[in-house]
Amino acid sequence: KRLGILISGRGSNMASLVEAAAAPDCPYTVALVASDKPEAAGLAWAAERGVPTFAQSPKGMPKAEYEAKIDAALRAAGVEAIALAGYMRLLSDDFVARWRGRIVNIHPSLLPKYKGLDTHARAIAAGDAEAGASVHIVTEELDGGEVLGQARVPILPGDTADSLAARVLAEEHKLYAKTLADWLRD
Ligand code: GRF
Repeated sequence: KRLGILISGRGSNMASLVEAAAAPDCPYTVALVASDKPEAAGLAWAAERGVPTFAQSPKGMPKAEYEAKIDAALRAAGVEAIALAGYMRLLSDDFVARWRGRIVNIHPSLLPKYKGLDTHARAIAAGDAEAGASVHIVTEELDGGEVLGQARVPILPGDTADSLAARVLAEEHKLYAKTLADWLRD
């Protein structure tokens, strides 16, 4: 399967997916890494490794026009499924409908808990004993689609949002590659 990955920044989850794609039994190849931020560090990382990249800022144009450019780049690259990896923009209902059931996202919480932003601070403030990450199908509802896989980590005494985020992120990298491979094999 030809995979497109959408990022907005660092791209560490994207990098883990690109690295996992090198395994001979991996069911996907990364056909395109696209970003809404031309300066995203992840874009340079991908380009250095020979992965095709595309950048399109949404500034100064209607959302539909921006998304049409992203959609065209994905289709030109022959993309069949999309993985969101730290893509910080809400996809329109129209875009989701056009790729129905073929977009996944990784979210740094144990969904259905803590949809949206600041998940780690919210988990700590709630006194939760554990946190984690979820890979889910993208629907029109933010962080709301079917959960395909989760990873759990303990919340430790003295944890800050940053220390917890680092512990979760290490698990995200393993979870995303594995869950995506299982999903694309089906
Ligand atoms: C990750 O924590 C991911 O779960 C969330 O945004 C962060 C992106 O990090 N959606 P990176 O760009 O993959 O390093």
